[in-house]
Amino acid sequence: MSRVAYVNGRFVRKAEAVVHIEDRGYQFADAVYEVWALFDGKLGDPDGHFARLERSLAELQITMPMSRQALTVVLKETVRRNHIREGLAYLQISRGVATRDHAFPPKGTPPAVVITVSRVDRDAAESRARKGVAVITTPENRWGRCDIKTVGLLPNALAKQKAREVGAVEAWFVDDLGLVTEGTSSNAWIVDGDGNLRTRDTNANILRGVTRLSLLDVARKAGFNVEERPFTSDEALSAREAFITGAGTLVLPVVLIDGKTVGSGQPGPVAARLRALYIEHAKATAV
Ligand code: PDD
Repeated sequence: MSRVAYVNGRFVRKAEAVVHIEDRGYQFADAVYEVWALFDGKLGDPDGHFARLERSLAELQITMPMSRQALTVVLKETVRRNHIREGLAYLQISRGVATRDHAFPPKGTPPAVVITVSRVDRDAAESRARKGVAVITTPENRWGRCDIKTVGLLPNALAKQKAREVGAVEAWFVDDLGLVTEGTSSNAWIVDGDGNLRTRDTNANILRGVTRLSLLDVARKAGFNVEERPFTSDEALSAREAFITGAGTLVLPVVLIDGKTVGSGQPGPVAARLRALYIEHAKATAV
């Protein structure tokens, strides 16, 4: 159990950690977040997550509450105080606390910062990756700025719940053209019939996954042909392999889509290799 949270400059017992009822994150989802995978107590893919955090904040005109260096210190101290080696670090930054008004609060209102950490059972995660997981598809119904990592995740939460109810771990959003955009908390990939790795391009309305970006590079260096090109759910079903990426899942094979098998119905060699390569990369670059 994690026991300590960081809230606005203080480390507090998680059970007693509170935010103000007029926090704009609470009232308007006016907040951004980041999630780092933790490897041996270190933050995986640090630069990618900090770069995206700064971009999300800039897009919403929320000030970065402290430097990357200071934030790294606070994140790592939260991890240390919780004695967690393998897990996830969660950071949320809202526009701050102000009397409820849709328009921005007065200049100088400080952003509110919360950090929590949680443990991940890597053995259980590896055994899940060896079996593969099921996903469902669901119509895309999110706003037009999914590139900003905001806490406005109600469509994602509803779609994830729909997946859970049928024993799937993820739901893939499918847009009006029938193309898969991404999962509720992961990016979607296939290995097509020609052996090409394919994932949606970032001109589409998706989150620019940090795992996705690193894996594009890792896969190219390993000699794979990688294309940022959309696919339909039927193409995913007739693909050799499918998988998802994210800080929570790393690289996780998908063996069922809407109850129908992908490829052989077993996790394939490409996803297994990419999972190993990504974990190696994340451990090597963790801080
Ligand atoms: N989710 N797409 C969406 C909608 C996401 O929420 C996430 C991450 C990703 C993958 O991004 P990354 O590789 O940077 O983790 C894609 C996090 C893990 C979450 O919400 O918990």
